[in-house]
Amino acid sequence: MIDLHAHYLPGIDDGPKELEQSLEMARLAAADGITDATVTPHHLNGRYRTDAATVRAALAELQAAVADAAIALRLHPGSEVHLTPELPQAVADGSAMTVADRGRAVLVEPPVHHLPVGMEAILSECLVQGVTPIIAHPERSRPLQQDIAPVRRWVEMGCLVQVTAQSFTGRFGHSARDAAAAMLAEGLVHVLASDGHRPYGRTPCIGEGRAVVAEWLGEAVAAEITEVIPAALLAGEAPERKRLRRLVAEAVEARRPRPSWWRRLLGAR
Ligand SMILES: [Fe+2]
Repeated sequence: MIDLHAHYLPGIDDGPKELEQSLEMARLAAADGITDATVTPHHLNGRYRTDAATVRAALAELQAAVADAAIALRLHPGSEVHLTPELPQAVADGSAMTVADRGRAVLVEPPVHHLPVGMEAILSECLVQGVTPIIAHPERSRPLQQDIAPVRRWVEMGCLVQVTAQSFTGRFGHSARDAAAAMLAEGLVHVLASDGHRPYGRTPCIGEGRAVVAEWLGEAVAAEITEVIPAALLAGEAPERKRLRRLVAEAVEARRPRPSWWRRLLGAR
């Protein structure tokens, strides 16, 4: 699996404080079946600024430590950029780190309590520059828990959506789980990621969340959002959105209860 949202860099943001915690996170992720992860420190969120140069330098140190510790996890550059009017400029001038430093997609964090006026104009500006916003954990946003219609619009515009794995296991409550399920059932979830912050509690693991998705909509959908689409994004390629929609539609259809005449025809009781 590939994890495109995790706070691994020590002492940079609200993630791990010490290198040893980062290494423990890396060990947990590798044990969870994660082969690759992007490090995604907060940027422009009013509290933390972690520009691309800082990410590169801190990542090089952590990569060396992970290699020394013989942990089988490949780390790649990234960041979690807050949705602010500065975002398009920060993407254009390269000061905000994009997914795997490819300049093709950027992880964008919307505010939790409100949807800012002008939000879609900001997302559009990124898209016009050829950089796809990946909306981070919309299922944890209060207004989107009430109504996922804005998420539909953003995906129609060309944005992608990342849901947090622990939302499917109930870690963020019923509202987040229900919103995540509603988005998934409409084919609006492209990436499942950990948003891990430390080696306990908010861990960098996605296996449990993936299992919930697999049990509900099958292995193909689970693989698409934990392996196939994340791999494309890591390589700087555009993911195949149509295939995801088809796989989800087939899985939802397969779960639909059959009419009683159909069950009788099959001899079921
Ligand atoms: Fe995050």
